[in-house]
Amino acid sequence: MRRIAIFDTTLRDGEQAPGCSMNRGEKIEVARKLEKLGVDVIEAGFPASSPGDLESVRAIAGIVKDSVVAGLCRSLEKDIDACGEALEKAARPRIHIFLATSPIHLEWKLKMTGERALERAVSAVKYAARFRAEVEFSAEDAFRSDPDFVCRVFGAVIKAGAGTVNFPDTVGGAIPDEFAARIRYIKENTPGMEKARLSVHCHNDLGLAVANSLAAVAAGADQVECAVNGIGERAGNASLEEIVMALRVRGEFFNAATGIDTTQIYSASRLVSQVTGVKVPPNKAVVGENAFAHEAGIHQHGVLARRETYEIMTPESVGIAQNQMILGKHSGRHAFEDRLTFLGLTVDSETLEKVFAEFKDLADKKKTVNDRDIEALVRGAASAPETWKLDHWAVNTGSALGASGTIRLLHKTGVRRKHVSLGDGPIDSIYRAINRIIGREPELELYEIGAITGGSASQGETMVKILWDGRRYNGRGVSTDIIESSIKAYLAAVNALEWELTREGG
Ligand code: KIV
Ligand code: ZN
Repeated sequence: MRRIAIFDTTLRDGEQAPGCSMNRGEKIEVARKLEKLGVDVIEAGFPASSPGDLESVRAIAGIVKDSVVAGLCRSLEKDIDACGEALEKAARPRIHIFLATSPIHLEWKLKMTGERALERAVSAVKYAARFRAEVEFSAEDAFRSDPDFVCRVFGAVIKAGAGTVNFPDTVGGAIPDEFAARIRYIKENTPGMEKARLSVHCHNDLGLAVANSLAAVAAGADQVECAVNGIGERAGNASLEEIVMALRVRGEFFNAATGIDTTQIYSASRLVSQVTGVKVPPNKAVVGENAFAHEAGIHQHGVLARRETYEIMTPESVGIAQNQMILGKHSGRHAFEDRLTFLGLTVDSETLEKVFAEFKDLADKKKTVNDRDIEALVRGAASAPETWKLDHWAVNTGSALGASGTIRLLHKTGVRRKHVSLGDGPIDSIYRAINRIIGREPELELYEIGAITGGSASQGETMVKILWDGRRYNGRGVSTDIIESSIKAYLAAVNALEWELTREGG
């Protein structure tokens, strides 16, 4: 069987999508998960795009050992330098250079002739040779480019040292048969193609990103670029979980396989959804809430008699726990740790102490603690260090009155600060009081609240995104009290902001 390389761009193309930004701590957490998932390449960011991105790529490069770590750059020396610098410590670095090749991009964006673009691509790839890194070259908007021109560019960059050439459908307009034919053409007509890997990168504007990527694999592509939950520019990138499971379930059709540990898929999807705050639709293939739910009586009957009547893959194969183990206040540490492992949640020993103590508290309040609760506790513990910690809060509200919120916070220096504010409602009043204490007024860009599980004893889960100095910070909070979960979420976002500023010396 052919081995198809999975190039994950959740942290680059995914992260650049509206509402999907992640802070450095979150990116590192996702990168660790991607390594555990077994992706071949983690595209960690675009180092020249901002100092923050460069630092995130550098941090990930210093941690990840098993996957190749890639950074994106334009065909410019300054971008390649930034990328080389960010990847200095990577065990397996890859510099990913791109330049558009389509007539519309050449004329209107780059204002360059095709010949000039070809020279630029070759000199960029040659320039990258000064760094200890593999080189990938992407012909941006390749699908709308003249195929013979792409073959010339690919042939020239392979000769200049590129080990992978990538053929993106940047605007997501391709149709599977057509895309497959193009991939075959490129394979057959690119000089030196046998010396390099051929990659594809499909966007989902017509909902065909996965279909196009799979058609390309059938036509001979060696690498697929994709993102967890399909996040990415506009309608997104091809979804990693769908590609990987299609290649697993229909491996014999493609005569191909990936190196992905599919049992890590569900926890990776949950993690990306939680750090970005972008929910997975219930009917999403492979990882949606209903992906393995059988509602119709005939289907239920069939599945009970024999699972394969209506299931082409098992929930366990993607890491969805069928046996919901309910833990309670009598559950011991061993059972708790076992459940974390089963759920694909990795924590260090210090975090384990903290999460186990919180689990015991929660079990006292809630009687039964299920997998979603445990996941929420682990996510809460993974937030940035607590510059500000919640000490005490109280809210007065009613239909005839405005609301007043009182909050006391504990600063990491040991100082306690208290403030009372009026507001339009309980959350507004308490967030205003927090702002007075921290001495900043970030813009609240998103506030969402939901229940983790059904029932009135469920925990409230709040997600907030705040904007400060052009950057977004996410925070999640979980509590059996919805005001407290809202406070925790806001403080988590504030702490992420404070942490970033401390690291930048601000
Ligand atoms: O969609 C695209 O063309 C890209 C390239 C930079 C690979 O994201
Ligand atoms: Zn893209």
